[in-house]
Amino acid sequence: MADTTTTIHGRTVPTLGLGTYKITGDTCRESVAHAHTMGYRHIDTAQMYQNEAEVGAGIAEAPVAREDIFLTTKVWHTNLAPADVKRTTEESLRALGTDYVDLLLIHWPAHLDSDEDALRRTLDAFVEVHEAGQARHIGVSNFSPKLLDQTVAHLPDEAPLFAHQAEYHPFLSQEPVLQHAREHGYLFTAYRPLARGAVLQNERLRAIGEHHGKTAAQVTVRWLLQQPNVSAIPKAASAAHRVSNLDVFDFTLSDDEMTAIHNLARGERQIDPAFAPAWSEGA
Ligand SMILES: NC(=O)c1ccc[n+]([C@@H]2O[C@H](COP(=O)([O-])OP(=O)(O)OC[C@H]3O[C@@H](n4cnc5c(N)ncnc54)[C@H](OP(=O)(O)O)[C@@H]3O)[C@@H](O)[C@H]2O)c1
Repeated sequence: MADTTTTIHGRTVPTLGLGTYKITGDTCRESVAHAHTMGYRHIDTAQMYQNEAEVGAGIAEAPVAREDIFLTTKVWHTNLAPADVKRTTEESLRALGTDYVDLLLIHWPAHLDSDEDALRRTLDAFVEVHEAGQARHIGVSNFSPKLLDQTVAHLPDEAPLFAHQAEYHPFLSQEPVLQHAREHGYLFTAYRPLARGAVLQNERLRAIGEHHGKTAAQVTVRWLLQQPNVSAIPKAASAAHRVSNLDVFDFTLSDDEMTAIHNLARGERQIDPAFAPAWSEGA
């Protein structure tokens, strides 16, 4: 049996979370309520998803205490000026119906990639939000090794980098940023963990799944969670998918199976907008 949690800077984090990008309205509220009723304790949203109110309503509806849920939201890249970080975080909290999030992330570095002073000012605003009790932990998303180095160097010991969220699935190796997370002891959260369903067609993942009586999606989630410091947030609007993705803690992949899945990497970055950073800078 594998652990359903990992410990980061003394805090226990459930490794499997529910992603909510493109789940909106009643479907979002019902998905979040259902997920937490059947065992999820970690949920991922963002200002950009325009579903924070529905995520909050789903949490309120579930028979689980707020303090038992690890809730993440993200500040959009147009809101990274210090005053905007504070104002929009408060808007997020109001929408979510909570006094705090467990994790507040910079969603994309955008202009911060070429302006280290601006990065420092944004990080200082995140530290202030943390000190005000509105974010238990602070982190980043879509950062390069260079940006991660700058972030670790700037943040104070009282509010260290807690997490980096980035695209990670069997078709995209993320070795430099994974190593960085392990070296500095922070969480690496895999987004787009199922390559948006592409893993289902892969023969190797299917064959490994057959051996364990599991699907290719379950093998992929298991492969992610079996790696040190890694959590994963598959999105599932379908209840059957939510149930299936949580059912990955009763089997273990062998070292050979882990390696065979690592060897599927083919540089397939699915999310690469115009405002993305220079991904490999500092690697
Ligand atoms: N920080 C960032 O910039 C960033 C970027 C992208 C995503 N994210 C986060 O990461 C989360 C996950 O990424 P994603 O939504 O892009 O892609 P994903 O989780 O890799 O894939 C979601 C797709 O896989 C399907 N699926 C889920 N479980 C399945 C299963 N057991 N069997 C078969 N199909 C299954 C879903 O179907 P149904 O929905 O129909 O069930 C959906 O079509 C997002 O929701 C978001 O929270 C963050």
